[in-house]
Amino acid sequence: MASSSASFAGYGGSALRLLAVLALLSATCRVEGSNLVNILKGEGQFSIFYQALLQSEELASVEGRTVLNGSSYVVFAPTDNSFRADFEPKVLTCLQQSASQKGLIVKLLNYLQITTLHTPVVNAVDLAKFAVDGRLWTVLGTPILVQQTGPASVTLFSESKAMDTVVNSVRPVDTNVTLVTLDAGLVVDDSLSEEIVVACMGGGSIPAPGVPAIPRPSIAPPRQTPTTTTVPPAAPSSSSPPRALLAGNRRLL
Ligand SMILES: *[C@@H]1O[C@H](CO)[C@@H](O)[C@H](O)[C@H]1NC(C)=O
Ligand SMILES: *[C@@H]1O[C@H](CO)[C@@H](O)[C@H](O)[C@H]1NC(C)=O
Repeated sequence: MASSSASFAGYGGSALRLLAVLALLSATCRVEGSNLVNILKGEGQFSIFYQALLQSEELASVEGRTVLNGSSYVVFAPTDNSFRADFEPKVLTCLQQSASQKGLIVKLLNYLQITTLHTPVVNAVDLAKFAVDGRLWTVLGTPILVQQTGPASVTLFSESKAMDTVVNSVRPVDTNVTLVTLDAGLVVDDSLSEEIVVACMGGGSIPAPGVPAIPRPSIAPPRQTPTTTTVPPAAPSSSSPPRALLAGNRRLL
């Protein structure tokens, strides 16, 4: 009895090993998936971005766009540090953990994808070169502004220029697919910023017209403005940029 159970255990062990080998083989043989998605999944610096793609089910669309035919595809991938630098912890948690914010996440992710270029982007300056009137039209339908700001670097801006970030790393990763790492902050569409602030900091209620809905710069430190420059006073309308979204004092141009 004892020997038969011992041999059974031995047999079971080898069966387990066989299963492990099969699992390993099937994992290594399954090399499906674009380099883009594999990089986003594999590099720890993109964990927030990757999880957002995964949980909002936008990942399948991203994968699909990597095989777009005859066009070029650019993904702006903010690093975890960029998300943490530009979003209040409360906003980040709200976006990550509240299923009801899925629509906002999808909008944010769509703003970070460009499918309207026809020439593969191989370096940062290409982004400025291929932009139309300084604008890169995103999957969301609103533009990211782009300007060349150095011999080999460009700066991205939201339309109101409330948010900006310098592009340091541009990687062609698949045929006509380019991964742009946003490691110095991210850009968010202006009206989407407001939506996020209202949803995540305004108690989720839709404001009545004329009522200042957005918690005004409770967090943003006072900006030092040079006295020689005339800075228009912050408009009380909801069209002024939602500074509360920003965790730090991001430079405005
Ligand atoms: C791309 O389009 C061409 C022409 O329409 C077609 O022949 C080719 O099979 C397409 N390739 C892919 C990968 O869809
Ligand atoms: C890649 O871009 C080139 C140049 O725009 C284009 O001619 C080619 O069809 C594209 N390839 C694919 C697979 O989309």
